[in-house]
Amino acid sequence: MNDLLIRGRVLTFVREPEGIDDGDSYCFYEDGAVLVRNGKVAGVGPYRDVALQAGQGVSITDHRPHLVLPGFIDTHLHFPQTQAIGSYGAQLMEWLNTYIFVEEQKFEAPDHAAFIAGRFMDELISNGTTSAVAYCSVHPESVDAFFTAAEERNMLMIGGKVMMDRNAPDALRDTPERGYDETKRLIDRWHGRGRARYAISPRFAITSTPEQMEMSRALVAEHPDCYVQTHLSENEDEIAYATSLYPQARDYTDIYARYGLLGRKTLLGHCIHLSDREISVLAETGAVGVFCPTSNLFLGSGLFDRDRFSRLGARHSVATDVGAGTSFSMLETMDEAYKVLHLQCQRLSPLSSFYMMTLGNARALELEQRIGSLHVGADADIVVLDSRAKSAMELRMQVARSLAEELFILQTMGDDRCVVEVYVAGRAMKRRRETFGAHMAKELEMS
Ligand code: GUN
Ligand code: ZN
Repeated sequence: MNDLLIRGRVLTFVREPEGIDDGDSYCFYEDGAVLVRNGKVAGVGPYRDVALQAGQGVSITDHRPHLVLPGFIDTHLHFPQTQAIGSYGAQLMEWLNTYIFVEEQKFEAPDHAAFIAGRFMDELISNGTTSAVAYCSVHPESVDAFFTAAEERNMLMIGGKVMMDRNAPDALRDTPERGYDETKRLIDRWHGRGRARYAISPRFAITSTPEQMEMSRALVAEHPDCYVQTHLSENEDEIAYATSLYPQARDYTDIYARYGLLGRKTLLGHCIHLSDREISVLAETGAVGVFCPTSNLFLGSGLFDRDRFSRLGARHSVATDVGAGTSFSMLETMDEAYKVLHLQCQRLSPLSSFYMMTLGNARALELEQRIGSLHVGADADIVVLDSRAKSAMELRMQVARSLAEELFILQTMGDDRCVVEVYVAGRAMKRRRETFGAHMAKELEMS
């Protein structure tokens, strides 16, 4: 494959920003370039330097004046809930029972699973998200559909079949043995194949019996390089119910701790109502609390306390949590994150936001060698952003004076319309799909 030189205003983080204007936390090249060779970053820096490294026959795509960043990473969402976004009026348990456990039953049909998986990946790409950690439904077919759609696009995706053997409709329940066997088969089939990674996924303590939690413990012990994902402390009624089902546990976090599910590869969705003791357990084990701002507001769940996580030394990441989350856009997600933190007198600087969507989330997944920044040797997952994509943005940008201000405008006013192009392992994916989509529409019109 020929080299590709992507020219633009290149921004990539090297560490977590320590303040609103921490210029040492990132590299920024006003006339910069990323050289892509065999799907990897082969050079990054000022355009005139990087251009010299390009081989014969290099193709050049000039995105100036747009920003060129690492692709966004989403650390928690549900692919079978793609068509359930915006389901009205209920808090967590009622929302699950009324809408979600109905919607997820459709994924028994492989055709439906394949259709939604394809649209789900395209939606992520449209929004500039190149990697994500997703729950599939209880059906192994949904996992096959998920990883097949990711593989077709060469995306680094993490996912797994939810295990649930109680408190759900018959059609969505497995058993401890079936959950174990099916997960094992799926790990054998998908984990480490191309860019696919598996997440062992007991949905949450309410929908798994102690027997299923024991099976989850065995899976985690047998596959220490897989991820683990579940939900923790999202909603007051949920917490009361979960802890009543596990009376020996000290608190909700202790349920997962007792079954050996907490470690550096564990992602715990929500973590809103935790005690200091529970957050300290996360800090000791290295488990990651996942902040899902649009979801937490939409379901009326509560406010994630980032500063308490930091003070107690616990790790956190950020995510959309579609379909309780109301947008696939990480820009819109960070807009809501800013407000959630503001309500608690906590600040989220634009540099921190863009760090979190990229290198911060990559570190939470321990994948920072591969994704989340544009260093030489990284996978060439790249997003190109137009800070003037909407007329109101263009007007606002006329008076913007700094890179940080531009980033804040993107986060506050931006959405998928700002995503000009997305490269997945060096291949342009967004405009290609839009052109292909238009072509298909024309063919259909003519037939
Ligand atoms: N807790 C258990 N399952 C879910 C889910 O699908 N979405 C959310 N937001 N919370 C959950
Ligand atoms: Zn979730």
